[in-house]
Amino acid sequence: MTPPPIEITSALLSEWLDALSRFSAEGPGVTRLAFDEHWCQAHRWLAARAADLGLAATADAAGNLFFHDPALVPAAPGSPVILVGSHLDSVASGGRFDGAYGVLSGLLVAAELRGRGTLPVVGLATCEEEESRFHGNLLGARSLLGLASAAELDALLDSDGVSWRRALESARLRGCATALAPGASPFTATFRAAMMIEPHIEQGPVLETERLGLGVVDRVAGYRRLRAILSGEARHSGTTPMPARRDALAAAAEMILAAETLAMENGPPALATAGSVRARPGLFNVVPGACELWLEVRHVELDGLARLLSELERRCKAIAARRGVGFAIEQVSSQAPAPLSPDLAAAAERLAEEQGIAHRRMASGAAHDAMVFARAGVPSLLVFVPSRRGISHSPEEFTDAGALWTGYHFVRDLAARLAAGGGTGVLRPVGP
Ligand code: GLV
Ligand code: MN
Ligand code: MN
Repeated sequence: MTPPPIEITSALLSEWLDALSRFSAEGPGVTRLAFDEHWCQAHRWLAARAADLGLAATADAAGNLFFHDPALVPAAPGSPVILVGSHLDSVASGGRFDGAYGVLSGLLVAAELRGRGTLPVVGLATCEEEESRFHGNLLGARSLLGLASAAELDALLDSDGVSWRRALESARLRGCATALAPGASPFTATFRAAMMIEPHIEQGPVLETERLGLGVVDRVAGYRRLRAILSGEARHSGTTPMPARRDALAAAAEMILAAETLAMENGPPALATAGSVRARPGLFNVVPGACELWLEVRHVELDGLARLLSELERRCKAIAARRGVGFAIEQVSSQAPAPLSPDLAAAAERLAEEQGIAHRRMASGAAHDAMVFARAGVPSLLVFVPSRRGISHSPEEFTDAGALWTGYHFVRDLAARLAAGGGTGVLRPVGP
């Protein structure tokens, strides 16, 4: 075992979280969108910190970044590893901890556990999870598991019409991805994930309210994201009588309230959100003739999610029909709810009890990279630390240094235990 050349302390974790948060576009909070210049700078900064810790940093063709023992050869056949990490991208005007905490925890855990155990521990920064630039359905985790298709590279466009392929190529030119291998499915696994552990802030109020130090997450809610196009009639706002209007924005307003009412009627864990509405032509003196509306529903059960989706569509169609407004809807992205590994959750609970850390089992309402690994058959676990006032996806996101360190320490010890046992009692056999 080689100790890291830098002492890993709570102060270092906090200092590096601060440093990582500065790779951001101007404006409130952190804005670091997949493959943009801030993302690339953060990527390179992380690779340099890995080197400081005596680790190698290997990027894959999708821009995911792995931190590992230099003696460990990427893509070596028959060599499973434990992945610990989260995502490098952020939402627009997001917080300093979402994703970043898991990325830095993975980096530091890989450094502390280098050369220990039967299963190597590799830190991970996925390239994209937030769907804030491309509506790409957790494309970081999906690409590294070989689940992203070649067609998506050209089909996924950002709001300026830049394709995922072009954005990735510009990141590659800046040293943040390797060249794409030719072939139908462009991405292949750099390391074979035997298990995945994702340290993350809770992003909700449960742990703080119940004064707990850790959340052991056993399931993650799924979502459906929809883009609705409403077509009414643009007319003079000063001369068109109210009953004669086919106002696309007024119809959207009713749909937004219908979504809210639907989720309230269903009660927790049903959620519905209208995240964006854009009216055309967008003037004082024109009745809006067209409108684009983004809707999202979430639920931890697949049938609950399906019911929410079909009822929301039914209510929106009825509103459009009553108002004489055209209504077309397409699904932009979706994730099925994902159960995480019961064996890993049990191992985490045992360790939390041994260490005297107050904890609970819980579901995650937010989506996470771990859900993609879990659905691909990789035993996966999310470990939460409390979020102040439950606020996240906001510049006000905050977790104090003590809580961050407790979670880090816990994940390191859990990974050490799993690595030492070669995954015994947790791992299903890993195929060829
Ligand atoms: C990820 O943060 C999500 O749940 O949208
Ligand atoms: Mn997020
Ligand atoms: Mn996140």
